[in-house]
Amino acid sequence: MLKLGIIGTGSISHHFVEAAHTSGKFQLVAVYSRKLETAEQFASRYSNVQLFDQMDTFLMNSFDVVYIASPNSLHYSQAKSTLLAGKHVILEKPAVTQPHELQDLVQTAKDNHCFIFEAARNYHEDAFATIKSFLADKQVLGADFNFAKYSSKMPELLAGNTPNVFSDRFAGGALMDLGIYPIYATIRLFGKPTHATYQAQKLDNSIDLNGDGILSYPEFQVRIKTGKNITSNLPCEIYTTDGTLILNSIEHIKSAIFTDHQGNDVHLPIHQAPHTMTEEVAAFANMIKQPNQVLYQSWIDDATHVHDLLYTMRQDSGIRFEAEK
Ligand SMILES: NC(=O)c1ccc[n+]([C@@H]2O[C@H](COP(=O)([O-])OP(=O)(O)OC[C@H]3O[C@@H](n4cnc5c(N)ncnc54)[C@H](OP(=O)(O)O)[C@@H]3O)[C@@H](O)[C@H]2O)c1
Repeated sequence: MLKLGIIGTGSISHHFVEAAHTSGKFQLVAVYSRKLETAEQFASRYSNVQLFDQMDTFLMNSFDVVYIASPNSLHYSQAKSTLLAGKHVILEKPAVTQPHELQDLVQTAKDNHCFIFEAARNYHEDAFATIKSFLADKQVLGADFNFAKYSSKMPELLAGNTPNVFSDRFAGGALMDLGIYPIYATIRLFGKPTHATYQAQKLDNSIDLNGDGILSYPEFQVRIKTGKNITSNLPCEIYTTDGTLILNSIEHIKSAIFTDHQGNDVHLPIHQAPHTMTEEVAAFANMIKQPNQVLYQSWIDDATHVHDLLYTMRQDSGIRFEAEK
């Protein structure tokens, strides 16, 4: 059983602990919060959890791995301190706000005999292996991947406040928050594109509310739509010379149906996991318990491509975080 610590006491951390406990591979043992009362409130659903409001003391505790789900711009420094303390890190997406930060964390993890994982949950879905294998003998002509959901933080934004997820200080925005999922899916299925663009509707602080991206390959393009002030109900499609593969979604995929040019359907054997985080939780636990350096390096390489793309796309549409201004 891996002993788990948590940084960040938002609802996603409960979601992660639920998946971690259900896997039978993790046990929550410690929570860090800026306020002890918040840590106490968070831990009240679980038993035998130690509470901390000082990061240094928290990191001296004896646990194996820390899940970090704080606002984006805090990820790098919190992950760095955690790795330096010799703990594995599961870092919520987007792991970093600058590509060089990821390289530094990867090196710090290596120097301290730890792993660093980005919790981009769709990347670890088995569905992508099934889809990739189905596409292996087909010629891809393009794809449309959408992930746009009206945010529960929109009323706060419309009332004149700036929630963290729309803040330049905390490196928010639609691309960083939701656009990362179609980008991960694209990298997982097609590898690194040669070129990327992104055009967005933005707030005065330059943070994007929604946008459209194009990831270009020599033979085709993947179009991406993301947003937090809109909801897209479009399915996702992959076009091939033989027909079109329709996915109900680009994350927590439930169905993948290929329709050929004669109208015949093939239903791919997709088994949706019971929980959105089931597959990543299992992947991280397995890697810690039985390290596979080749597989780990492929995760790091893909994460590197994703963060290079996020940076390029932000530059293209003029999204600037506070630390960059
Ligand atoms: N995988 C997914 O499905 C999923 C879903 C939602 C979010 N996320 C990711 O999870 C991360 C957190 O998102 P969220 O919406 O939960 O963020 P959030 O509500 O803004 O903050 C999460 C936690 O971070 C701490 N925090 C908040 N503001 C802070 C500040 N100014 N300084 C220091 N700590 C602060 C708070 O914990 P304390 O009060 O205890 O210190 C808070 O509960 C983001 O990276 C996001 O992209 C992932």
